[in-house]
Amino acid sequence: MFTVPFLLLFIADSHLCFFQFSSESSTYTYLLADTNTKEAVIIDPVLETVDRDLKLIKELGLNLTVAVNTHCHADHITSTGLMKQRVAGLKSAISKFSGATADIHLTEGDNIPFGRHSLTVKETPGHTDGCITLVTGDQTMAFTGDALLIRGCGRTDFQQGCAEKLYHSVHEKIFTLPDECLIYPAHDYLGQTVSTVGEERKFNPRLTKSMEEFVELMNNLNLPKPKKIDISVPANLVCGLHHV
Ligand SMILES: *[C@@H]1O[C@H](CO)[C@@H](O)[C@H](O)[C@H]1NC(C)=O
Ligand SMILES: [Fe+2]
Repeated sequence: MFTVPFLLLFIADSHLCFFQFSSESSTYTYLLADTNTKEAVIIDPVLETVDRDLKLIKELGLNLTVAVNTHCHADHITSTGLMKQRVAGLKSAISKFSGATADIHLTEGDNIPFGRHSLTVKETPGHTDGCITLVTGDQTMAFTGDALLIRGCGRTDFQQGCAEKLYHSVHEKIFTLPDECLIYPAHDYLGQTVSTVGEERKFNPRLTKSMEEFVELMNNLNLPKPKKIDISVPANLVCGLHHV
């Protein structure tokens, strides 16, 4: 586990450029690019930081082709709709099971290519029905959304949440990835930025429990309702743009 507020990783020989940004709502946005072709993908961009994100994309001369959401978020509004208005040719993507509008509706096994690289979709429902985990082609990085967090997981008490489904998703779709595969979640409230499949499989206090214990725990968290849920969910069903 590392705690760095802003992380830039250059994996020279694979020509993959990777940025992780945090925003006020403790949400992480990820930008991945092929440094040769300049094609780029952004994961979970946030409305309030659209200018910051587009500035960097412009500075780096990237060709942003896809803006993907790991699920229909309840705690913040996505900037995919606004980005589409500002970036010619940009397509939005989200799970087919999210109920949200987008240019691309993703299902299990779909690929989001960017230059020589790609992200593969794994359906990991449980936090919501439309949660996906995005895994790089070489299985060195997994963007788990709110399915698996660092030493935690997303809540399962609203938006079609189901603890049993989440348990199966994490064990069958994420914990079966290589131990060294890096885990990049959609949120972290402690400033932790990355973990690994091996670490979470061993030390995640929730997902190391039996399914029965996990379900019991998740169904008794008694968390307060997210502050922005009544605004965020309807907005995110339409790429963060309200119907006028
Ligand atoms: C950006 O990438 C897309 C997809 O590969 C391609 O069709 C388009 O021509 C590229 N645009 C620029 C300006 O390079
Ligand atoms: Fe969420």
